[in-house]
Amino acid sequence: MDSAVNRFSHRLAACGNAAPRLATTLLAAVLLCTAGAARAAGSGQDRMRGRELYQNQCTACHESVVHVRERRTVHSLNQLYERVEHWRTVTNTAWSKEEVEAVVNYLNTRYYKF
Ligand code: HEC
Repeated sequence: MDSAVNRFSHRLAACGNAAPRLATTLLAAVLLCTAGAARAAGSGQDRMRGRELYQNQCTACHESVVHVRERRTVHSLNQLYERVEHWRTVTNTAWSKEEVEAVVNYLNTRYYKF
């Protein structure tokens, strides 16, 4: 697992949770939160939620590289939705329709770009 990505998502999580103690961490969090707020228009916030959900539930078996492998199985937005729903069911994850859509939105924006 990419620890830089992990640290980044932990700082993002700090936006809504306990304030970090170190001044430098706090500053970084403020900067990230501000950048996040600027992108929150449209579905930016939705994507950040999708990223969190995905990282919490889905990276046990595969790193994100599965989504950019040469012979990937997903070739349309519909298929992506189906795959996410499939894995949600397989992993017994209780995501709402909105949360599934947030994950689809995140994966599509980050990797697939349909
Ligand atoms: C039990 C292990 C496991 C877990 C947990 C898991 N996956 Fe997967 N996933 C796989 C394997 C293995 C593949 C490749 C084979 C396949 O496509 O079925 C895959 C492939 C995928 C693909 C297709 C990639 C492509 O473009 O070819 C998507 C999308 C996906 N997973 C999403 C998810 C999501 C969302 C979650 C969390 C809800 C999740 N996975 C959790 C094992 C897992």
